[in-house]
Amino acid sequence: MTAIDRIETLLDEQRSFPPPEGFRKQAHVSDPKVYEQAKKDREGYWADWARQLDWIKPWHKVLEWKPPHAKWFLGGKLNASANCLDRHVKAGRGDKVALIWEGEPGEVRRITYRELLGEVTRFANVLKGLDVKRGDRVAIYLPMVPEVAVAMLACARIGAPHTVVFGGFSADSLKDRINDNQAKVLITADGGYRRGSLVPLKVNADEALKDTPSVKHVVVLKRTGKDVEMRRGRDQWWHDLMKTAGDTCAPEAMDAEDPLYILYTSGTTGKPKGILHTTGGYLTQAYATTKWVFDLKDDDVFWCTADVGWVTGHTYVVYGPLALGVTEVMYEGAPDFPAKDRFWAICEKHGVTVFYTAPTAIRAFMKWGPDLPAKHSLKKLRLLGTVGEPINPEAWIWYHKNIGGERCPIVDTWWQTETGGIMITPLPGITTTKPGSATIPFPGIEAELLDGQGKVVPVGGGFLAITSPWPGMLRTIWGDDERYQQTYWSKWKNVYFAGDGAKRDADSYYWILGRVDDVLNVAGHRIGTMEVESALVDHPAVAEAAVVGKAHEMKGQALAAFVTLKEGKQPSDALREELKAHVAKKIGALARPDDVIFSADLPKTRSGKIMRRLLKDIAEGRTLGDTTTLADPAVVQRLKDQYEEKEG
Ligand code: PRX
Repeated sequence: MTAIDRIETLLDEQRSFPPPEGFRKQAHVSDPKVYEQAKKDREGYWADWARQLDWIKPWHKVLEWKPPHAKWFLGGKLNASANCLDRHVKAGRGDKVALIWEGEPGEVRRITYRELLGEVTRFANVLKGLDVKRGDRVAIYLPMVPEVAVAMLACARIGAPHTVVFGGFSADSLKDRINDNQAKVLITADGGYRRGSLVPLKVNADEALKDTPSVKHVVVLKRTGKDVEMRRGRDQWWHDLMKTAGDTCAPEAMDAEDPLYILYTSGTTGKPKGILHTTGGYLTQAYATTKWVFDLKDDDVFWCTADVGWVTGHTYVVYGPLALGVTEVMYEGAPDFPAKDRFWAICEKHGVTVFYTAPTAIRAFMKWGPDLPAKHSLKKLRLLGTVGEPINPEAWIWYHKNIGGERCPIVDTWWQTETGGIMITPLPGITTTKPGSATIPFPGIEAELLDGQGKVVPVGGGFLAITSPWPGMLRTIWGDDERYQQTYWSKWKNVYFAGDGAKRDADSYYWILGRVDDVLNVAGHRIGTMEVESALVDHPAVAEAAVVGKAHEMKGQALAAFVTLKEGKQPSDALREELKAHVAKKIGALARPDDVIFSADLPKTRSGKIMRRLLKDIAEGRTLGDTTTLADPAVVQRLKDQYEEKEG
């Protein structure tokens, strides 16, 4: 199904779901007036949210907007870790459980806010002992264990921006990210568990560290107990360092605009972008959206299934829920280990009330069948969420019925690494939802659909744009302000271009179509086609490569790579597998192409531009679109025949 077909189906979607009365009554917000109020005085509205945090020094100005640079809460000082920990302990809630962690092998740890503060304080002192100073970058390459949150919050405590690298990324990806931000310390583990096997994090880290001169110290967490090499003078065990670490460490007074973290995401070039988030505005939006979108109360048990290696894990596993002081579940492993009902077993066991996951996971659950969730009591669930890609109405309805027992509202939340927090979303006590639509902007967020000229499209299709600055917005791309301006702010004047296409219906609801640039969304993860192409061309047999997305039942999109080999190299199944493995090694398994198609030529325009649209037609088995602008139209017909032969 093409994106356009998908949106057509979506727009045929007539079902709608008003908030159940019982839900509405107990919700944090149930009066649509909040939208009006926020619109009338946007700065005042965001300032009201910011005031719900603890500030060491108040701000003197809410917003300074010098497009494309925004500053929020100018002059204000605060500390993110103090907001996530100290203030709950001070308020007498130190014994409340912050994290209910479950390892993939099955062990459970319950960590209170007081305990988490203790760990964070000690680890902050460990970092200081390794000469990490305010402003220094710290790289984190850990599995989903409580220590990943400890490490992030310890960085925040001493004012050292962290850069978390997803454990599924390769040594090369880790190396590039470290070199881009010159991290001084790397925090990793002897391994992690994934689907019953060990992820060799330390082995990958060692490979990366061969070429990362900025890293002076490596802290290694013992998670699996597997033997790893410890380089003398560089590598030290987490538990050894913690033994002697002091247990007081005053949180640094950070400026609202001081960096909190850098997180890399794919773009349209081969080089990932280091998205920079700062402290005050980001935390304000994380807090506000966690509270209103997930409607969290003191007795809720929240579970966001994202890995902290992604922005969803930053905002809705670490900063949002902890700033709000909720109890949350954190799970280390795969949804199908040891059996395909693991998520529902966890929900039942820990009494999860609010559950947030990705459409790709929901499509997998659908495929595995309704009997698996039916084996478990999910009656404590009261609200469900999705994020990361468009959700097809069938999956939405399945989720509603089989997980939500037809009683839980569903919040389909649209946002990005760059936006820092949720932007377009239902408010579960107010919004009538429609399956497949992320509905309308969160109060205080202003979005529009624009055409190429920047004209507003009130109803119909266009490019999704954010038309005024928001607190959690990225501040720049680390080390590349030019690229920041170019990527996000050059399409129209002073308006943020999200890179997504969308449609807006007569109720002003947004239906997100997906990316309009050369970025794909594979299983909810953004992958730049250029990044994969660079990895392919890096292989000695490859002369040229073009990567396109093709529709995939479970992953949303999958990668198809068209590859031209160098003179004298022969196509073979073995080489095909080797190229797939090469991409996995260069970037990580998540970027492994599903198909590799060898081709003597790639279809190009007369000016030499690869016609990806035609490659996509081939990969998706469609009749070919317009080929009249091709330098050699026969190329694409040959490719199509060849592809169909392979598939057939
Ligand atoms: O294309 C949109 C899609 O994911 C992109 C952002 O990816 P990333 O920065 O990795 O962050 C993912 C988690 C916040 C967007 O440009 N996307 C995200 N949420 C949705 C979505 N597409 C449709 N519906 C959503 N709810």
